[in-house]
Amino acid sequence: MCGIVGYIGTQAATDILLAGLEKLEYRGYDSAGIATIWEGEVNCVRAKGKLHNLRSKLEQIESPAQIGIGHTRWATHGKPEEYNAHPHLDTAKRVAVVQNGIIENYRELREELKGKGHQFLSETDTEVIPHLIAEFLKNLSPSSSSSPFLEAIRQAVNHLKGAFAIAVISADFPDELIVVRQQAPLVIGFGQGELFCASDTPAIVAYTRAVLPLENGEIARLTPLGVEIYDFAGDRLKKQPRLLNFNPALVEKQGFKHFMLKEIHEQPGVVRASLDAYFNNFGESSESPINLGLPADLYNNLEQIQIVACGTSWHAALIGKYLIEQLAGISTQVHYASEYRYAPSPVTANTLIIGVTQSGETADTLAALAMEKERRQGKEPQYQGQLLGITNRSESSLGDMVPNIISTLAGIEIGVAATKTFTAQLMAFYALALDLAARRQTVSKDTLEKIINGLRQIPKEIEATLETQERLTEQLAHEFAETKDFIFVGRGINFPIALEGALKLKEISYIHAEGYPAGEMKHGPIALLDAKVPVVAIAIPGSVYEKVISNAQEAKARDSRLIGVTPVNDGEAAEIFNDLLPVSDVEELLSPILTVVPLQLLAYHIAARRGLDVDQPRNLAKSVTVE
Ligand code: M6R
Repeated sequence: MCGIVGYIGTQAATDILLAGLEKLEYRGYDSAGIATIWEGEVNCVRAKGKLHNLRSKLEQIESPAQIGIGHTRWATHGKPEEYNAHPHLDTAKRVAVVQNGIIENYRELREELKGKGHQFLSETDTEVIPHLIAEFLKNLSPSSSSSPFLEAIRQAVNHLKGAFAIAVISADFPDELIVVRQQAPLVIGFGQGELFCASDTPAIVAYTRAVLPLENGEIARLTPLGVEIYDFAGDRLKKQPRLLNFNPALVEKQGFKHFMLKEIHEQPGVVRASLDAYFNNFGESSESPINLGLPADLYNNLEQIQIVACGTSWHAALIGKYLIEQLAGISTQVHYASEYRYAPSPVTANTLIIGVTQSGETADTLAALAMEKERRQGKEPQYQGQLLGITNRSESSLGDMVPNIISTLAGIEIGVAATKTFTAQLMAFYALALDLAARRQTVSKDTLEKIINGLRQIPKEIEATLETQERLTEQLAHEFAETKDFIFVGRGINFPIALEGALKLKEISYIHAEGYPAGEMKHGPIALLDAKVPVVAIAIPGSVYEKVISNAQEAKARDSRLIGVTPVNDGEAAEIFNDLLPVSDVEELLSPILTVVPLQLLAYHIAARRGLDVDQPRNLAKSVTVE
């Protein structure tokens, strides 16, 4: 949610800032802006809408600046208009700030600063920061500190409440770029005679792999002489950069029209990487053939699991619940993180709390975990509970907060709609549920082996699905591009896939879609059905196949056009379903990794057909760092 970038060095700052913002645009695209320093002035250029609007404006400006900051915005406080775009400046236009996060006490600060003569031009929370810094700078005597700019920023951030990352430059200190991290991500990049900062590494990997992620409560001063890091009390900290292991191909489209389509096609590789990382060969380990690298005491005496997550991660968690309960027999509850924070379950003994977030930055999920941690502190050991995170970004805020992490192995995902990260989360849940089952001996060795062998077949089955579904889903997209409402139904382990299919369609095609457990349709939603409302039914042979087929019949009797996601292609299926999206015949327990693929493709092709911005759908951002 909002991306920030900064540069100080010897190259043209504008080009580097724009290139960085392009890689961060997935974090927000309501407006963009940059501020640079040249000829003793702050030069600020901002534009409403996507980055190309800013780029057009900048084409007319020849800038020699070698220091600057940039921002791409997902609007929180104030409309997505140019006057609310970052960077924001102080009244004298000497200090420029970009921010990712929320300043909770901005109203009080704004009133206080207004009383001191500061003039505000935007509706944002961020604008108080340059004014506050200017106010502290005014009151500092030049000799009171070796860097008055750093000192003023230090004093200012000590007055801010909230979660934020900021980058600041000033025309009066043209050799200093100062960045601060407080519960929002920020990484520094070390080049040859140049330094970078950004909300996320893709913005800087083209220039350097030597990075230093800041931790909460840290301030860094970037100058031509290097980087100094301080805590909020002003004490100097010693830190070393580390080398980033990053595949630049992941942030390129590689011939695909959209990142989302590329990421859908990367799923077989994600499953292979997960199999290699999580599963040993049988016989290698006496207790469990699964290796998640978690401490043994995480599994001890476990009686309950509580999972918190949002969006697609919440759907993955629902499948996780199914797997853990059915395989390991541990009672598991899944909560929307945003709800759980304000209505938590009672504290129970021997409970594992799991946070699932691909970005590792979702504010609601982090806050729910922080709350759980806090309310269990000081309790007897069995009530303290262990915390586990499942994330695609182990270097994220979640990684800082939670001691035990299962890293999902999707590689960076750029499309705002989660696809391969969902599959990677499912793989993590298969591994966790099977590991628990193996340790508790709730399934036999043979069953365990059968499931793991089944998982090993999944990559090639996804490949086969991708091959057949591209054309089929494109054809269906042609017919359904103007449809107003869609219903997705599934049961058992495929009910969350119905939810996920509906979410994918909603978020990128702006078509109203709902997912239901197929058996619930008759309790109300069936009233929605008529010839204009297609129903996508996930029908996998196993415990609920006949039930889903009956529910599908009920929909058909109400004139709905039925699309079946199923491996069955017999007379009955052909008679019921108007259209088939065939998937391979795998064990019901493993089917969600396959059934989600045609639904991702259907949503993709409908959105593409409607000419929509698939990778950057309106009103959304990749990581939601506000509550
Ligand atoms: O980074 P997280 O997994 O915590 O994100 C949670 C949701 O914001 C995310 O899944 C969102 O629903 C996606 N747009 C789904 O495609």
